[in-house]
Amino acid sequence: MADKKEIIENLIKAYWMEIETVINYIANSINLDGVRAEEIKKSLALDITEEIAHAQTLAKRIKEVGGIVPGSLDLKPEQTYLQPKADTTDVASVIEGVIKAENGAIEQYNKLIKLSEGVDYVTQDLCISLLAMEESHRVEFSGFLKEYKK
Ligand SMILES: [Fe+2]
Ligand SMILES: [Fe+2]
Repeated sequence: MADKKEIIENLIKAYWMEIETVINYIANSINLDGVRAEEIKKSLALDITEEIAHAQTLAKRIKEVGGIVPGSLDLKPEQTYLQPKADTTDVASVIEGVIKAENGAIEQYNKLIKLSEGVDYVTQDLCISLLAMEESHRVEFSGFLKEYKK
């Protein structure tokens, strides 16, 4: 059975993933160029507010379970696949990067749901809601990718 410490560590990991996603969604929602990029930029801009809300929800839970919400010096970035490209019309690679980020979030929330089973049902419930939202982001961008790969 998972202990409280493991749950806090994984909540903090999920928090960082949300923050890094926000940073890269902001960059990509501004950097992309072209008619074909417009819908993707709009969609990313909408998702940013949702991902910020996810980070805030996680931060609140970290505190509630006895942890400390970290500051920026603890950020260890990992999203190599969402870095701005020299070609600002390369929309497909941004869409692929977004799907990868959403998959990462989905994996982390599934992990937390399993870890909190029988230990922390509030964290579990919260992670189930977050998981549902990430799955909906993923299906949206997977739909975009279908069109781009035609
Ligand atoms: Fe999120
Ligand atoms: Fe998301």
